Amino acid sequence: TVKQDLAGVNLLISAGPTVEEIDPVRYLTNHSSGKMGYALAQKAADRGANVTLVSGPTQLSKPSGVAVIDIISAKELQQKVKEKFEQNDVVIMAAAVSDFHVKQIAKQKIKKNGQSMHLDLVANPDILADLGHIKTHQKLVGFAAETQNLIENGNKKLVKKNLDMLVLNDVSRKDIGFNAADNEVRLLRPKKEPKLIAKTSKDKIADEILDELTSL
Ligand code: C5P
Repeated sequence: TVKQDLAGVNLLISAGPTVEEIDPVRYLTNHSSGKMGYALAQKAADRGANVTLVSGPTQLSKPSGVAVIDIISAKELQQKVKEKFEQNDVVIMAAAVSDFHVKQIAKQKIKKNGQSMHLDLVANPDILADLGHIKTHQKLVGFAAETQNLIENGNKKLVKKNLDMLVLNDVSRKDIGFNAADNEVRLLRPKKEPKLIAKTSKDKIADEILDELTSL
């Protein structure tokens, strides 16, 4: 049996990619599989937390004992997360949010004409940074995918988004991260040394992240 150390904790997790429509047949997205966020949701529920998972489109089966809210775009993700923010104690943003959306979604399929074309892209809101600036009692956890100067870039995000913890992924490595079953991460926390969680399954990483959260 699993220890129920998160009993009574309300935990909101976002996971997976967001998808931004271009026209009725095309879209912009990214390589997020949702595996890390889903593993966190399942482990947290197993440990007794009341888990709400706000998920972009993934190939994964729904975690059991978790309330799942499906979203497509970053804007929908923002709406759902904001709506649920106040009633949660811990918010983990594991979703890979599109940085941009298309300014005007075309109502009809865009036709090719042998020429180059360009898309007008507008920046999406930084949902996590917005939460960081309105949080009251909540513990806020972000993820960051970096390819260089990991710790330095991660620490900047920790401060800028006013987080209690940042889970840092090295996406320059092919054996971990996006779509892989395994991961290796560093946990950054304000005024503490980075903590390495050496390469292991995303399930084990999820438990270690939750362990660290209970100590916050
Ligand atoms: O700045 P960067 O995209 O690297 O930050 C990643 C973290 O911020 C992740 O936790 C992600 O879920 C969150 N994020 C967000 N809204 C965005 C972009 C990222 O909440 N528009």
